Amino acid sequence: MAHAVYPGSFDPVTNGHIDIIHRAAHIFDTLTVSVLSNKAKSPLFSTDERVNMLKDVCQDLPNVKVDSFSGLLADYVKKNGYDVVIRGLRAITDFEYELQMAQTNRKMAPEADTVFLTTSLEYAYLSSTTVREVAAFGGDISLFVPDRIADQIYEKFRKG
Ligand code: PNS
Repeated sequence: MAHAVYPGSFDPVTNGHIDIIHRAAHIFDTLTVSVLSNKAKSPLFSTDERVNMLKDVCQDLPNVKVDSFSGLLADYVKKNGYDVVIRGLRAITDFEYELQMAQTNRKMAPEADTVFLTTSLEYAYLSSTTVREVAAFGGDISLFVPDRIADQIYEKFRKG
């Protein structure tokens, strides 16, 4: 049995993340999608909101659960006995940071390997930052996130 974890900020989850979740869930026996709870990053959505959005989009995937973590990913991986860390790679610009992170994590948690899934071409341009920015100016984000998530993003900007 191979247990994978897909960590990230997911602020908010995008169609690009959902694509990676579906593909990783197909490959590994179990997949935990885990939200980094890091107040220093001052996210748009709270940890609970991000977890709930992920639970919503993962509800039809029986081998996927959603969790959150704080502190070092390597400690979280060791504590939960994950075999694999999943990360999506969009472009070469992601690579340097991702390589450094994977190698650092492997030093600290040698029992787990990082597996990169290359983002599907239709989502290669997409990031949570872009979605937040477009939504903040009232732009159309319907191609970037599921409708229910889009509603929550617009609502967040309406409330301020
Ligand atoms: O979605 P993101 O923001 O690209 O995800 C980055 C994340 C959460 C995977 C990364 O920042 C992380 O693992 N943070 C936890 C702290 C940590 O372990 N830092 C050292 C990584 S080398």
